[in-house]
Amino acid sequence: MKHYDYVLVGSGLFAGTFAWHAVKAGKSCLVIEKREHMGGNIYCEDVEKIHVHKYGAHIFHTSNRKVWDFVNSLAEFNRYTNSPIANYHGEIYNMPFNMNTFSKMWGISTPAEAKAIIEEQRGTITHEPRNLEEQAISLVGKDIYEKLIRGYTQKQWGRSCKELPAFIIKRLPVRYTYDNNYFNDRYQGIPMGGYNVIIDRLFEGCDVLLNTDFNEDREKYKSMGDYMIYTGTVDSYFDYCYGNLEYRSLKFESVLLDTDNYQGVAVVNYTDAETPYTRIIEHKHFEFGTSPSTVITKEYPVTWQPGMEPYYPVNDEKNQEIFARYEALAKTEKNVSFGGRLAEYKYYDMDKVIESAFGLVEKLLGADRI
Ligand code: FDA
Repeated sequence: MKHYDYVLVGSGLFAGTFAWHAVKAGKSCLVIEKREHMGGNIYCEDVEKIHVHKYGAHIFHTSNRKVWDFVNSLAEFNRYTNSPIANYHGEIYNMPFNMNTFSKMWGISTPAEAKAIIEEQRGTITHEPRNLEEQAISLVGKDIYEKLIRGYTQKQWGRSCKELPAFIIKRLPVRYTYDNNYFNDRYQGIPMGGYNVIIDRLFEGCDVLLNTDFNEDREKYKSMGDYMIYTGTVDSYFDYCYGNLEYRSLKFESVLLDTDNYQGVAVVNYTDAETPYTRIIEHKHFEFGTSPSTVITKEYPVTWQPGMEPYYPVNDEKNQEIFARYEALAKTEKNVSFGGRLAEYKYYDMDKVIESAFGLVEKLLGADRI
């Protein structure tokens, strides 16, 4: 059996960024992936030449020049700028909250008018916010909370905003300019040809075992290399000895429609409590697609249960305490590094995952490799 310098468990961005640098440094890599495809959650499915973001909408954005240069060395990026729309019972608002939103909500036109209304509405909360509702009102006032935050957040977390802790929304993006760009980052876009172009480049030169769950024979897979990079869930690695870490999960319902343009924008958030889904994604708009048909995906938040896809970690006190115990255990493992969103039980944007993998490259392959 071939012996490798590195065994990588998982084939997402974290493992891929490390693999790319390792192969360049002349190291051999074996990738073990339990799904039937590579790429982790950035993987796209090709439906009638439309790149469908199978695990949720992915928009690349960063202010880190090194990360931007790296991803651009793998694929060319288009000029996509995320400007989602909020639909509240058929009323359309621009996101993030900006002068277009305020103008539509209150019929006003100047930043001073908007500031005065928000200031007056947030004035009702004079104490330290005790829950998410109070936190949101203290940040953006009552009207925006009622129409654009309350229903959406309740669907997202499966609990009333009064029962959710204030820390979930430390800040909310409020802009007193007519700027619908969702992100503040310097660079933004979608890889031309879809994310699979990046995935293919990242793992060039690696051997790959698909449909292979590392947990089914850990010792065997571990012994196939000198060193292992593990990007699966940290609790499963340790047989859930301190219990399950909790997540929020998502259900995606995709449909191919015989129309060239369903909603005129890639992302529409449904912010009322009654619509059961939180968003509809129309994938072709990420790439300015011109095909005669379209694919839309409705996104439903669901309560996670063991066996479901883990999407959003529930970083509350209880889960953070459990994670701290797993983290301490992970530090005692010899010749293994744990990285990425599942092993670190952390919500990570793509650029931050790449940044974190750069750190591991520096540690294991040398600072001159970045
Ligand atoms: P990732 O989950 O991609 O990869 C881990 C891999 O390990 C998976 O392929 C999994 O199958 C495999 N694996 C796990 N256990 C295994 C085992 N036991 N054996 C073998 N294989 C195993 N970020 C951003 O910048 N912009 C955005 O718009 C979005 N949008 C977004 C939407 C949604 C719904 C979510 C949940 C997340 C985002 N993100 C995002 C974040 C983005 O998805 C994230 O940064 C990366 O996918 C993380 O890459 P990783 O390599 O850490 O994990």
